[in-house]
Amino acid sequence: MEKKKILFVCLGNICRSPSAEAVFKGYIEKEGLNDKFFIDSAGITDYHAGAPADARMQRHAIKRGYNLDSISRPVNPATDFREFDMIIGMDNQNMRDLEQLAAGTGAVTKIFKMTDFCSNCPHDEVPDPYYGGNDGFELVLDLLESACGGLLNFLINNELD
Ligand code: 4NP
Repeated sequence: MEKKKILFVCLGNICRSPSAEAVFKGYIEKEGLNDKFFIDSAGITDYHAGAPADARMQRHAIKRGYNLDSISRPVNPATDFREFDMIIGMDNQNMRDLEQLAAGTGAVTKIFKMTDFCSNCPHDEVPDPYYGGNDGFELVLDLLESACGGLLNFLINNELD
């Protein structure tokens, strides 16, 4: 079977989307489903291209057992909208930017919002933690753990054979 290819996207690809990548990879590893997926992350901007994840985000993530080892890169509209099956944005601005970048590619239907996979979640986006304090980074991880659980259940029930 073809691997399911999922791209997580935020603004800078140094806080939220590398965390989503690490949390989801942790979940599929635990379920023994590594060979069924290809998981990556990217940013709307290239401001931090080539940089590792934000040190604060790394510190919070490692406390929950997630090692953020991805290196920031911008979304590549020429290839990403073709290669990936699902492109998942973190906030409403990411969604607008992704929809604009994908316009005319036929890939708009591949774009989803992370919080749509949360269950009982009082937030409708994963808020940008960059200019805030510790609570913001913890909230990002809380939301990502809930959404990654929901996303994996959705895929197991509907998409994987
Ligand atoms: P991210 O967080 O989109 O979750 O990676 C941000 C990282 C950098 C900036 C904003 C948000 N920035 O303005 O540089």
